[in-house]
Amino acid sequence: MPTTYLDQKAKTVVKILPMNEEHLKDILCIERKVQMEPWSKQMFVDELSNKRSLNFVALVNNIIAGYLCSAMVYDELHILNIGVAPHCQRQGIGYSLLMEAVAAATKNKICAILLEVRETNLPAISLYKKAGFVKIGIRPNYYASNSGKEAAILMIKYLR
Ligand SMILES: CC(C)(COP(=O)(O)OP(=O)(O)OC[C@H]1O[C@@H](n2cnc3c(N)ncnc32)[C@H](O)[C@@H]1OP(=O)(O)O)[C@@H](O)C(=O)NCCC(=O)NCCS
Repeated sequence: MPTTYLDQKAKTVVKILPMNEEHLKDILCIERKVQMEPWSKQMFVDELSNKRSLNFVALVNNIIAGYLCSAMVYDELHILNIGVAPHCQRQGIGYSLLMEAVAAATKNKICAILLEVRETNLPAISLYKKAGFVKIGIRPNYYASNSGKEAAILMIKYLR
């Protein structure tokens, strides 16, 4: 069953569905536009075949506008990837995808959700703060960047 979210500001209706292989062509097209180090098709396929993964797509007018991949590790959920098509950003889609992951994690009795984000990725950091994540650490020189290396900020959202 899809979950439907309405962004009050933009009045965008976002339908969230479990991800499947048929979605990958459109997801890869977005992924290559929005990520500094895009995942390959195989990386998405591997997540889809992982029984402990929770992967979603967001549809606007039945067209894929965003996606989220996450995996349960013991009683934690790790957010592995999230992206929203450039022309669909700032309409509540990233937030809706995260809320779907929170709901699925709660259903699976997960204690906490963790993620890493580039220290310069202010849109993503703002999104995670809005969704209730807090900073718990820094991994220096974690990502390759245009200027060499950059740190990852480690964030967590406790569910219970
Ligand atoms: C990060 C990303 C997924 C956000 O998706 P989105 O659908 O645009 O986010 P939303 O519209 O749901 O925004 C929710 C909140 O996040 C924050 N936010 C999102 N984009 C922002 C921006 N460009 N600048 C500042 N804050 C921003 C705001 O607090 C926003 O709430 P508001 O609109 O009420 O102010 C999207 O920008 C993206 O795909 N970026 C490239 C890929 C990426 O960086 N992924 C994360 C890797 S860790």
